[in-house]
Amino acid sequence: MCGIVGYIGNRQAQEIIIGGLRKLEYRGYDSAGIAVQTAQGLLVDKAKGRLAVLEGKLAVQPLAGNAGIGHTRWATHGKPSDENAHPHTDSAKKFAVVHNGIIENFLPIKEELMAKGYEFTSETDTEVIAHLLADLYDGDIVSTVRKAVKRMRGAYALGIMTEHEPDKLVAVRLASPLIVGVGEGENFIGSDIPALLEHTRDVYILNEGEMAVLTRDGVELMDAETGERIERELFHVEWDLVQAEKGGYDSFMQKEIYEQPQAVRDTVSARIDEANKRVVLPELNMSDEELAAYDRIYIVACGTSMHAGLVGKEVIEKWTRVPVEVAVASEFRYRDPIYTDKTLMIVISQSGETADTLAALREAKKSGVKVLAITNVVGSSVAREADDVIFTWAGPEVAVASTKAYTSQVVALYLFALYFAQVKGTLAAAEIANVVEHLQQLPAKISTILENDEQIRRFAESIKDATSLFFIGRGLDYAVSLEGSLKLKEISYIHSEAYAAGELKHGTLALIEDNVPVVALATQPDIYEKMVSNIVEVKARGARVLGFAIEGDRELAKTVDDVIHIPTTLPMLTPILTVIPLQLLAYYASVARGLDVDKPRNLAKSVTVE
Ligand code: F6R
Repeated sequence: MCGIVGYIGNRQAQEIIIGGLRKLEYRGYDSAGIAVQTAQGLLVDKAKGRLAVLEGKLAVQPLAGNAGIGHTRWATHGKPSDENAHPHTDSAKKFAVVHNGIIENFLPIKEELMAKGYEFTSETDTEVIAHLLADLYDGDIVSTVRKAVKRMRGAYALGIMTEHEPDKLVAVRLASPLIVGVGEGENFIGSDIPALLEHTRDVYILNEGEMAVLTRDGVELMDAETGERIERELFHVEWDLVQAEKGGYDSFMQKEIYEQPQAVRDTVSARIDEANKRVVLPELNMSDEELAAYDRIYIVACGTSMHAGLVGKEVIEKWTRVPVEVAVASEFRYRDPIYTDKTLMIVISQSGETADTLAALREAKKSGVKVLAITNVVGSSVAREADDVIFTWAGPEVAVASTKAYTSQVVALYLFALYFAQVKGTLAAAEIANVVEHLQQLPAKISTILENDEQIRRFAESIKDATSLFFIGRGLDYAVSLEGSLKLKEISYIHSEAYAAGELKHGTLALIEDNVPVVALATQPDIYEKMVSNIVEVKARGARVLGFAIEGDRELAKTVDDVIHIPTTLPMLTPILTVIPLQLLAYYASVARGLDVDKPRNLAKSVTVE
């Protein structure tokens, strides 16, 4: 995830900025850069790779000055490289910008600026901001930033400086976090509290659409849209550094669960053509004709990523009628799959480095099969070796148990399935528009679930001493059950199994006795009644059942012991919502058992061995 640090005061900006960026290293990044107001003007240095590479360059040629901005980049638009690293400047190098987030409409702005003669040197969406500021500059950086912001759509946190007004540092945020640190004769900006903690504990947390203008001696907050001054009390940070890295959450897993509205929004937003409510995937190298010709798909992945693939299979088959087989990579790589020239392979990997997934990808490529990757890490082996890539923009996932990567992968699969349906003509435009609208509403619905986690926390505490637990569901609910069960096993060490509910009576029902906890998902309308019958079967054997139903369902409560209601969405999209309480269940069960949530025993974040 990108990091921002800015400084204005009487000390050397370079030292403070590099020190702050070092505190953000745990978030992951692939390049770093800095801009400082020096006696020679606004100077920039940046480098691909670790911060140490940039520090090596600065040791040879320091940037001396008392105001500056710095950045660590986690690549989204454009590969990790010196050119794509931030800060970005306009052609005359009078404006420097660091940016976290995505400018969704950067392409039309870029085209407009190119037509006016502005020359671009990077592949990033951020560079347009620097040129736009130069183009709009009216002698006042504050009003210029406000004008620029009006042109931009998307999610951003920005740090901005100009050589024309070297005693000012401007910060502005929409949807990406940004804070302002207040010191004595010096002020700071940062994307996260750990970056500033060494220097100040007094901060303003910027809200959506707010802007801050920093000088050595003061900070002015305003509404970026109206320009109105905002008065706010300083927030005094009591956390220590480790707590601050977790953003005030108790663990990275909890933080990542709560980052899901943002991860889903970022993964979806830049891929929607708003005017026509259609999906756009400009990152695909293959032509629409090539894509439309595929008549069989293999989805290959491991663990949670494979579970995302199971949801993908259902939606691709439903929307395009193309058969999809989902396979575990460690099995698939040793199989002799039946390929034709119309077979596409989709590999899914958060890290992009999982050994079995990578091996399956290489085997397929050797057989001449085209591979589309869904991954979270730009520059990873999977991203480099696949023919095509759809990135999930979840940001770095630190906790071993995958949460926000899963929901982003499922969302990426929805986008792919819709796009595939568009090019094959298997869904009407109105149906696509309807799904797109529901996809765009998911972040708010995830937030609602996260704000109401009390019920699932109580259930988690009630099962903390259970020796075994069952998850049951049908269709998409079964796919999500598998993920819920894996999560629980992984971090709470409680034995659990997920079953296709109709299979229970073929053996597993023998394990159900008094008080065995069962989590029963009943969110799919077309198989709802069948599911209720299966719940009755386990209840009759004494099971204690937590049911999952769609908002407004008053029936399920009559059969089960307790019900969690999921906000209404299209049945095909419910997995994104149903999985959230299941992640919370695993999380709270692990906490209740006093375990290390982020580092479960015997497991590693990235499995790079077979
Ligand atoms: C479970 C989990 C793992 C990973 C699996 C694949 O919470 O995180 O099951 O999903 O190891 O990893 P990636 O997606 O990096 O290939």
